[in-house]
Amino acid sequence: MGKGRVNWFYEEWAKAPRTIVHVTVDKGDDAWTGRVGVITQALTDIAPKPDNAVAVTCGPPIMIKFVLKDLEKLGFAPQQIVTTLESKMKCGLGKCGRCNVGDQYICQDGPVFRYDQIQSFLEAF
Ligand code: FES
Repeated sequence: MGKGRVNWFYEEWAKAPRTIVHVTVDKGDDAWTGRVGVITQALTDIAPKPDNAVAVTCGPPIMIKFVLKDLEKLGFAPQQIVTTLESKMKCGLGKCGRCNVGDQYICQDGPVFRYDQIQSFLEAF
């Protein structure tokens, strides 16, 4: 996916009512003019308010782990946070068992969950 296509998505998202899009990259190239820094730093800097808000996160598991902790520090309730766990999936069909955690199969029951749905077993990841 080209850079222009990525920017198109952000511009479209920003058109949604009551939506503000912040973009950060870990490391920008010479053409990048936006924010540079890890998402946890951006969260600290922007400090979104949890009132009437939903936070949606996806990415590498280690990033998700720290983002969830930071969102809680900002006052987001687990019911206000949505995340993905597809990194635990392999077959995606409920056959291999790789994504099984407790009574959940990430590929069958998710892979998108509210944080309160997965809090109890997330530490196992
Ligand atoms: S990914 Fe194979 S069972 Fe879920």
